Amino acid sequence: MNAVSDTVTMRPAAATGTALVHLRDLRVRYAPDEPFVLDGVDLDLHDGEMVALLGASGSGKSTLMKSLTGFAPVTSGTVRMGEIDVANLRRGQLRDLRSQTGQVFQQFNLIGRLSVLTNVLTGSLHRAGAVNVLGTFRSADRKKALDLLDRVGIAHKANAEARTLSGGQQQRVAIARALMQNPRVILADEPVASLDPKMSRTVLELLQSIARDEGIPVLVSLHVLPLALAHSDRIVGLRHGEMVISGRTADLDAEQLAPVYELDDEGEDD
Ligand SMILES: Nc1ncnc2c1ncn2[C@@H]1O[C@H](COP(=O)(O)OP(=O)(O)O)[C@@H](O)[C@H]1O
Ligand SMILES: [Mg+2]
Repeated sequence: MNAVSDTVTMRPAAATGTALVHLRDLRVRYAPDEPFVLDGVDLDLHDGEMVALLGASGSGKSTLMKSLTGFAPVTSGTVRMGEIDVANLRRGQLRDLRSQTGQVFQQFNLIGRLSVLTNVLTGSLHRAGAVNVLGTFRSADRKKALDLLDRVGIAHKANAEARTLSGGQQQRVAIARALMQNPRVILADEPVASLDPKMSRTVLELLQSIARDEGIPVLVSLHVLPLALAHSDRIVGLRHGEMVISGRTADLDAEQLAPVYELDDEGEDD
């Protein structure tokens, strides 16, 4: 094993049409004597598509997201992110994996006292040379960050302190920050759970347009069915860690969606 062979990209094997994210029979438990938190989940995520991971609180959505980036164990099964076998990570691959994975969270995770622009620029920090010896960002990166703020519709807020923005605006900054990484995939864990319905739609439409127009696949976890139906190409539904729904959103009928209604009842608010 040498350093060169450990440097991998998440590019899928185009010739075989392999999905960028490829999960088969994923099982996860946090300790040997505990029950499985994920128990047999399959998922494929192709370029250009947005897949909703639907489930009540505690169903395993965050664990699945974390398993994709090495933050939760892969107890058994196959987890591939492009060329990277996440279940058997080699030295150096974890860094590659995380630098190529754009992440968006429920609580935005911005640095409130810093400007919106600087927050977006932090998305470039994984790259060597992003900051020069004077501690300033490269002008090409500043230009790119401004373009991305324009892309998410808040270029006029570039110099505002992040904490002064509304929740919906902050989430758009977080999406611009994720795009600053040139991600191969975006994982958005309950990105609209703290937003009102109008802002939720705006943010999900933005993520959908990134999948469609930039080709970057988006996995988005949600706990309410209507948002998943309105904003996804496919839905994978979890209940107590088991996959109870999997199909193209347009094809799912009432019978296939029935487990979701049970799933709605069991959830606790978090
Ligand atoms: N680090 C951990 N250690 C042990 N159990 C955990 C850990 N993280 C989550 N769990 C458990 O795994 C289950 C699924 O949690 P989670 O993946 O956070 O679900 P969701 O995101 O759908 O709410 C829950 O029962 C939770 O208590
Ligand atoms: Mg969660």
